[in-house]
Amino acid sequence: MISLDSNGLINSGKVRVCYLHPANPDLVIKIPVGRKKEEQQANIKELRGYQMLMREHVDLFCVSHCYGFVTTNRGTGLVCDCIRDDDEEISKTLWDVIVCQDECDLEYIQNVIGKFCNFLISKDIFVFDLNLKNIVLRSQHDGSFQPVIIDLKGRYESHELIPLSRHIAYLGRKKLERRCNQLIDRVISYRENRAEYQPADKAFKGQKGITC
Ligand SMILES: Nc1ncnc2c1ncn2[C@@H]1O[C@H](COP(=O)(O)OP(=O)(O)OP(=O)(O)O)[C@@H](O)[C@H]1O
Ligand SMILES: [Mg+2]
Repeated sequence: MISLDSNGLINSGKVRVCYLHPANPDLVIKIPVGRKKEEQQANIKELRGYQMLMREHVDLFCVSHCYGFVTTNRGTGLVCDCIRDDDEEISKTLWDVIVCQDECDLEYIQNVIGKFCNFLISKDIFVFDLNLKNIVLRSQHDGSFQPVIIDLKGRYESHELIPLSRHIAYLGRKKLERRCNQLIDRVISYRENRAEYQPADKAFKGQKGITC
């Protein structure tokens, strides 16, 4: 059994806590935050979403790959790639950069995210949960950012009565376009209104260059 403790905590979302794998710094383990159905099912949704994506796309550099389940002292966890910058730091989420960091080249980030969205759309990479905390910006030696999606359960979280966009490419494409437009709008609006969001997210307080 893998033993997790709070020293390995990376961050948490609404339904899962993300830990660094204690035996492998290139992996994370995601554990449900509680016993509610939504929390318990998040990992299986992500694994299914990931497998579906991999059936459609042989090789994807823009997602955190998932490897299956492990037993831990904090419950069953899903193992995925830990996304790190070229200097080995764990990559910051788009939220960390846009909302928490004082310094942020908004124009450049808008450009990076715009190009990333065009890439997702052009390749029919159907990832729908494109919020600022589900994308990390992998910082590279040349100072550029490569966006990577770290939460793939959105494909299985359809709020449609019959999840047609999961199976019909045209509808999937339309949904992806809407989600991409929302993401691009959010990059600007969250930066402009960042003071409103900072107190609610203290998880990264104290980390290098991050103030909230
Ligand atoms: N593969 C990864 N590499 C590095 N950090 C990660 C990774 N996966 C998750 N994290 C960190 O953990 C946080 C929560 O992870 P995740 O989005 O999987 O949780 P969640 O509870 O399913 O999210 P949501 O609130 O969107 O439902 C992320 O915002 C990020 O900071
Ligand atoms: Mg998430």
